[in-house]
Amino acid sequence: MVIEVDQAFIQEAEHRPKPTISDAGGIPVIDLSPILRYPIPSDPADPFPDELSDLIAEIGAACQDWGFFQVVNHGVELELLERVQAAAREFFALPVEEKRRVKRDDVNPLGYYDTEHTKNVRDWKEVFDFILNESESDLLQLKNQWPEYPPELREACEEYVEGVQKLAYKLLELIALSLNLPAKRFNGFFEDSTNFVRLNHYNPCPSPDLVLGVGRHKDSRALTVLYQDEVGGLDVKRKADGEWVRVKPTPNSFIINVGDIIQVWSNDKYESVEHRVSVNSEKERFSIPFFFSPALSTNVKPLEELVNEENPARYEEYNWGEFFKARKDSNFKKLGKENLQIYHFRKKV
Ligand code: OGA
Ligand code: NI
Repeated sequence: MVIEVDQAFIQEAEHRPKPTISDAGGIPVIDLSPILRYPIPSDPADPFPDELSDLIAEIGAACQDWGFFQVVNHGVELELLERVQAAAREFFALPVEEKRRVKRDDVNPLGYYDTEHTKNVRDWKEVFDFILNESESDLLQLKNQWPEYPPELREACEEYVEGVQKLAYKLLELIALSLNLPAKRFNGFFEDSTNFVRLNHYNPCPSPDLVLGVGRHKDSRALTVLYQDEVGGLDVKRKADGEWVRVKPTPNSFIINVGDIIQVWSNDKYESVEHRVSVNSEKERFSIPFFFSPALSTNVKPLEELVNEENPARYEEYNWGEFFKARKDSNFKKLGKENLQIYHFRKKV
């Protein structure tokens, strides 16, 4: 066997993608058009139109059964997506020296990066990260680094993120209602949010059977709203049987997944599910996740309303800012050990 890629990218045999992956029995597709017609109710005890209660039940079931779903009729303008995608395509097509002028470093985790490791194996991808609220604290420096070219990237990104953030808030409210909580129960945590967007670019790979675009992982934040192009490659670990299934690209849709923080808030009712990205030898692929993330000062723990004597809190409280910093310091270099995970805060029974 001739291995054509650097050893750093090679996955251990058990984690390599199988040559054929099912996209049958995939994640639910949910039509959000009821919330374009009706306001989201503020309290689960309010009377709502059937269309809305059906939608909330559908979202609750998807969060419980899959941790993942796709949404259509989501209200985000297609034009915003097209512009940001076109600008991303231009940026990633630049020579690498040019891209590295806005490279992430040890102090500031934002900007361009092409050597990220997931679980200590290098990912076959390059990324550009930017945040909505820049901040500087003793803990972290979060400052955007916009490239000179293409000049329209910044505006396209800023306008895109506004649209996606609105959608993320609506989803957060629907998820709160599905847990029988007031719609805005989570909103306060996001006032000084650390929401950020990643532009992902996956080049074609000569050995797609040995590497992954992103190794298996769970998203550490509250909720992810992901756009993927028509190429496909996102694989989700199906809760029902532990099989990897490919998320079939649906035009003009977003993929939503529950992150670790909702898992903790919901005391494991909604679990953060493992996923990864497979690559292929022919086509490049673009994707754009929006990571909905609370303020750095947030202490994360199971919500009091969702725990009781029969269902006691399963996690110790942890501070999101400290977790984020520990992750930042480990994600960007290869370590000999596993990085911080929420199960480290799981209470011993
Ligand atoms: C991620 C991720 C999926 C994709 O960046 O966390 O899971 O399809 N991306 O690019
Ligand atoms: Ni992810």
